Amino acid sequence: MANTLTRSLGIEHPIVLAPLGGESAGTALVAAVSNAGGLGILGAAYMTPARIGEAMAEIRSLTDKPFGVNLFCQQDWQRDPAKEAVFIERLSIYHAELGMPPVQVPQKFEEDFEAQLEVVLDHAPAVFTFTFGDLGPVRIQALQQRGVKVWGTATQVREAVHLAALGVDGIVAQGAEAGAHRGTFMGSRDDGLVGTIALIPQVVDAVKVPVIAAGGIADARGVAAVQALGASAAAAGTVFLLADECPISAAYREALLQAQDHQTVMTRAFSGRWARGLENRFMREYANADLPDFPIPNALTRPLRQAAGKAGKAEFLSLWAGQAVAMAERTSAANIVGKLAQGWRHE
Ligand SMILES: Cc1cc2nc3c(=O)[nH]c(=O)nc-3n(C[C@H](O)[C@H](O)[C@H](O)COP(=O)(O)O)c2cc1C
Repeated sequence: MANTLTRSLGIEHPIVLAPLGGESAGTALVAAVSNAGGLGILGAAYMTPARIGEAMAEIRSLTDKPFGVNLFCQQDWQRDPAKEAVFIERLSIYHAELGMPPVQVPQKFEEDFEAQLEVVLDHAPAVFTFTFGDLGPVRIQALQQRGVKVWGTATQVREAVHLAALGVDGIVAQGAEAGAHRGTFMGSRDDGLVGTIALIPQVVDAVKVPVIAAGGIADARGVAAVQALGASAAAAGTVFLLADECPISAAYREALLQAQDHQTVMTRAFSGRWARGLENRFMREYANADLPDFPIPNALTRPLRQAAGKAGKAEFLSLWAGQAVAMAERTSAANIVGKLAQGWRHE
């Protein structure tokens, strides 16, 4: 089943656990996928630098196979007191409903990206992936000099061409079907909503580096499809959310188990950045709100999301999921890797 990508990484199957940031970022899940012959990628964007180091050590204690780490590129964002005040006023209603203390404005809205990256450089995983933009050639080269393969996320051909010109080793092409945040960094939200079946062959034709397909891949048929379209590997996120090793709350799991293909929406509600998830009350009530920039809402809604997870209130959870959510099944990560890998034809 080997191809150039699997050979260069030393992995058995061209099957990738797409990075899952936030509550679904489990080290056991990453290690289980790598142990099953795929490539687990840790979604580390919301972790402190210290936690990233610990998490990588945890993964290394669970597997001696290659794995990856993912971060969000730094965003330009502005504080807007008026928008924040409106956002906090609405959020306070939910805090009261759940019997939580009043909304607190956190000391910081995001982790220090350079410090996060420093830890990744120190621990040198097999692969580093980034989304939301352009890492810049200096950082890319620094990682490559440590022996780390660097993959950038693109949602349209011009983004892929831009990233390839910076010298990345692979392009993760994220189709519109994908769960959670869009990686789009050029043009409007809609510019980046190219479906996987249209995106992959066009990106494959436009760049010389391997393309890792993501978005709506949930079983062997999806894997076979993206191989036919020219991808070098298939990455899946949503289907791994129901893996036994994935540390999501029971309320999130229950919502995923009941979900159907038509029930995801694009929303900025929880984080301030466009993402795909299962529609719930929070998303409906914020559908037309004029939100502060990402990552401000993300930081402000974190206590609510954590409390809602504990209280079993899916209406206040960011239920990130892609359009193939109904194909996900409760089983082990190794079973999911095995099922997906069956779709890849021997090369
Ligand atoms: C719960 C969840 C969290 C995600 N977090 C991240 C993340 O932190 N970084 C990232 O690059 N992509 C993230 N993604 C997007 C995935 O890496 C990937 O693009 C997507 O899951 C692929 O489509 P699929 O969900 O249809 O399999 C996330 C996806 C989900 C479902």
